[in-house]
Amino acid sequence: MKTKILKPTTENIELAGDIIAGGGIVAFPTETVYGLGANALDPEAVAKVYTAKGRPADNPMIVHIASPLDIERLTPFITPVMEALIEVFWPGPLTMVVKKNPIVPDITTGGLDTVAIRMPDNEIALELIRKAGYPIAAPSANLSGRPSPTRAKDVIQDLDGRVDAIIQGKDCKVGIESTVVDLTEPNKVTILRPGIITSDSLREGLIGCGHTDVAVEYYEPVRETDKPRSPGMKYKHYAPKAEMQIIEGPRDKVVEKIESLRAKIENETNDNGTKKKVGVLLFEEQDFIEAAHEFFARLRDFDEEGVDLILAGALSEKDGVGYAVMNRMLKSAGYKVIKV
Ligand code: TXA
Ligand code: MG
Repeated sequence: MKTKILKPTTENIELAGDIIAGGGIVAFPTETVYGLGANALDPEAVAKVYTAKGRPADNPMIVHIASPLDIERLTPFITPVMEALIEVFWPGPLTMVVKKNPIVPDITTGGLDTVAIRMPDNEIALELIRKAGYPIAAPSANLSGRPSPTRAKDVIQDLDGRVDAIIQGKDCKVGIESTVVDLTEPNKVTILRPGIITSDSLREGLIGCGHTDVAVEYYEPVRETDKPRSPGMKYKHYAPKAEMQIIEGPRDKVVEKIESLRAKIENETNDNGTKKKVGVLLFEEQDFIEAAHEFFARLRDFDEEGVDLILAGALSEKDGVGYAVMNRMLKSAGYKVIKV
């Protein structure tokens, strides 16, 4: 398939909207990461997204809308908690899982009776949805299992030749995917995937709207065998080609350990006789917003440079944005952590 690489001009966004309305698939920027979109109400178009990504069909997609009013077609009722979260956080990196209407095909929701919805905070994305005239189902625009794409070049690397078009926007502002919350239980907000909208900001937002009685909790699967509430959680994710190892502990000890491991590994050779390359991922302490912005891009850059081993300093924050980045870091490293 020949992929159109489109600069984000008005005409090109209109063209991309036509492609989506006609059942095609288009990658586009959002404020979090790039998405790969199809008409969410067209099962055949959505099937193309699964194929292009190599994504398991039971992993549901997020449906993107351009106005809070668009939610009314997708879900049978809007609760006061939904209203409050829309008011405070949309457009923005918050995805709400709610009961679905029959208009949303099963393939979009991986057979679930709920649908994940978000209104992105990115003009190109919003204009594309308006021009398409349909809600757009879009997972992140990476090949399944690869780090999420935060730059147009990452999308081109993964999807050129596999999709109808790629809109070449700027680098994504946030850098990690949206916070996903389940709102299907009354007076409860369950965080299925952490993001830059943290549990504290959710609580504050709700209290600001008069909801003092709503519990905000993380979903914790109790046993390995529990059916995951967010099917995406069970897959290996975000993996760089290099092996990755997390080092956790006090900053000075972490730096010391990374340096000694680096020196040791860089003395070793690969089977083909080349020296081993080590990449170090050590973010400024406390600057978690910057870590979120950089994380996926750095993993992809290490792969480009042919790094064999990535040594990453753990982010110690127990909640908040640091926790959200750490959630991705753990998955990328296959949960390999050395404590020092
Ligand atoms: O920021 C983002 O959310 C990006 C941009 C493109 O909007 N999208 C994204 O999509 O990260 P994806 O498909 O990579 O992740 C969607 C997550 C998955 O973990 C999926 O399992 C979960 O949302 N999800 C989708 N629908 C769901 C549902 N009905 N119930 C529970 N979890 C759901
Ligand atoms: Mg993804």
